[in-house]
Amino acid sequence: MLKVLVCVSGGGTNLQAIIDGVRQGSILDTELVRVISNNKNAYALERAKQAGIPAVCVSPKDYEDREAFNEAFLQAVEEASPDLIVLAGFLVVLPAQLIKRYENRIINIHPSLIPSFCGTGYYGLKVHEGVLARGVKVTGATVHFVDEGTDTGPIIMQKAVEVREDDTPEVLQRRVMEEAEWILLPWCINLIAGGKVTVSDGKVHISE
Ligand code: GAR
Repeated sequence: MLKVLVCVSGGGTNLQAIIDGVRQGSILDTELVRVISNNKNAYALERAKQAGIPAVCVSPKDYEDREAFNEAFLQAVEEASPDLIVLAGFLVVLPAQLIKRYENRIINIHPSLIPSFCGTGYYGLKVHEGVLARGVKVTGATVHFVDEGTDTGPIIMQKAVEVREDDTPEVLQRRVMEEAEWILLPWCINLIAGGKVTVSDGKVHISE
């Protein structure tokens, strides 16, 4: 059984896709052991509660400095002793210590085709605003392992999504979620739970 901890900051539609995947059997051999939010008002916390998953809020606002927050966050992770950490719309920079400790055991979903429209400042709707401002015709989503950089870790899977002329950032965000994110993230977790994902030389190999 793969013990998965999910980190969230907002609405939690990706968390919901994972919950549904485990429930419906598209994600096998996986247990959702804990949800951590940095935002006490995140609707994702309500989704966790409704699914019966233990959920906690660890917010930088509740700590004196970054070091104290990092320590509390690490503790909240360690208590759950996860095999895999999933960043599902988590907008806080992870403590470096955690990234080192969980090398190739933290994955993130990003709402563009990395290396386009990623890195510092590109998160949530800002990504889709950037896509529309540049006028690219294809965007998508990427699931990747997390390393010390911002959106720079080994890419596990990507899916392309069409950009339409009359798109607004909100409309495009929804299409990227529906056609890519909610499919890719559960799929990747299932592959990892099945032991099919390996990393070598910074590249991901998926076995049959
Ligand atoms: C998702 O689109 C996710 O890809 C994005 O935030 C949204 C969270 O939505 N993540 C990033 O931008 C990370 N850089 P959700 O809370 O409904 O899952």
